[in-house]
Formats: sequence, C-alpha cells, structure tokens
Amino acid sequence: MGLTLELAHIYKAYGGQQVVTDCSFTFEPGGTYVIMGPNGCGKSTLLRIAALLEKPDQGEVKFLNGGNPIEPDINLKRRLTMVFPRVGVFNTTVAKNVAYGLQIRGVAKSEMQARVDSALELVRLTHKRTQRALTLSSGETMRLGLARGLAIEPDILFLDEPTTSIDVANTKIIEQVLRRISQDKKLTLIIVTHDAAQAARFSGRLLFMRDGNLVDHL
Ligand SMILES: Nc1ncnc2c1ncn2[C@@H]1O[C@H](COP(=O)(O)OP(=O)(O)OP(=O)(O)O)[C@@H](O)[C@H]1O
Ligand SMILES: [Mg+2]
Repeated sequence: MGLTLELAHIYKAYGGQQVVTDCSFTFEPGGTYVIMGPNGCGKSTLLRIAALLEKPDQGEVKFLNGGNPIEPDINLKRRLTMVFPRVGVFNTTVAKNVAYGLQIRGVAKSEMQARVDSALELVRLTHKRTQRALTLSSGETMRLGLARGLAIEPDILFLDEPTTSIDVANTKIIEQVLRRISQDKKLTLIIVTHDAAQAARFSGRLLFMRDGNLVDHL
C-alpha cells in the first residue's frame, strides 16, 4: 500500500509572524485533499513542510507504510513530488524536461521512454515533445509541470495552485487529468487552490486553512 502522511503539531513562523500553528492532520494513501484559504494564510508553507522541502519550527512530519514509520531519507523524498505554481523549465525539449526527474532516479531508458510518452499523452502535449520547453505558453508549461510530476509516479503528488493564471481550456485539461488520477487512487493528491468552484469539482476531502491549521470546509 501507499504512504500515509501524518502531520503532528506543526508550527512555523517567519520573522515573528506565526504562519502554521499546531497543525495536525493525516493524509491517507490514495486520498484526494483540496486545501483552500486566503492569500498568505500559509498553504504553500504547509505544503513545503509536508513535502519535506522545509523544516517546521516544531512538530513532526511522519510517513508510514502499512502502519510502520519510514525514515525521511532520500528514498522517501523521491516518492514525493511537488508541482509548483510557477513551473521552472530547463532549456531543452519538452520530452527531456519530463525525463529529467526519471534520469536522476536512475530509471532505465526503455521504462523512461514509456513513462515520458504516457505522461505527455495524459496532459496532451505529445505533439510538443521536441519543442523547446521555454517556448511553451504558460498553460502548456503548467501541463508540462504536471507531466513531469506524474512521470515520477510518486506516492504523494503535491500541487500548489495548479491552474492559477491559466485559461479555461488549459484548466480543463489539468482538472481532467487530476480527476482521473484521483479516481485511480494509486497516489495521494494534495491540491491547493483558490478556486472554490474547482475544489467542488474534485471528489475529495475539502479543507480550509484557518488560524494556521487545517479544518474541514463546511
Ligand atoms: N521563506 C519565507 N520567508 C519569510 N516569509 C515567508 C516565507 N515563506 C512564506 N512566508 C510568509 O508566510 C506567509 C504565508 O505564506 P504562504 O506562501 O504559505 O501563503 P499562501 O497561503 O500560500 O498564500 P497564497 O494564497 O498567496 O499563495 C506570508 O506572509 C509569507 O510572506
Ligand atoms: Mg501559496
């Protein structure tokens, strides 16, 4: 089975400003979680902490496999993937951008090819595979970021505002991909969004960040 992610009493402050306050939450394997909340309430910070990209001031980020705790080492970190709101690309082709994360994970060439192909197909960028990534539109770049995350086949995929400042057509493609993944339940999806209508379109647990903590959205 997949990974359980458990946040236990997480605190984080920046320069005296408390951003995350005693946040505890358990993300079950295969679940879909949508986190909403106003600008600056700490959503991205919490996501970075949960993805082990940043350390909390206090509290613990725990990962469990079938109830057994797992060391937060490099192997575990490779099972987590974050898609950032501003996707950074390398100055090479679209396909090579997707392949990069697999190369550093030592995935065999034939397997890599297959995963790149299917990820590009899923986000409908197959026809752009040899185009230089820096020449993609912003919507296409976001789709590339999603393809890159999916190709890694992580246990947990974190998405920070995957459709912000992206037009309707691109948003639709991204939502379709995410809904499909959500239904497969092969990985845990943790999505931060500003868009309440979008949040309602995912059949996941809706959460709200309030006073530095996650609460169920009513
Ligand atoms: N590395 C950092 N150094 C200093 N302050 C930070 C840092 N990261 C975040 N902050 C501050 O923490 C607060 C929460 O930021 P965060 O990006 O987590 O909010 P958010 O909910 O994601 O906001 P948005 O909806 O605008 O993306 C903000 O006031 C931000 O300026
Ligand atoms: Mg943010």
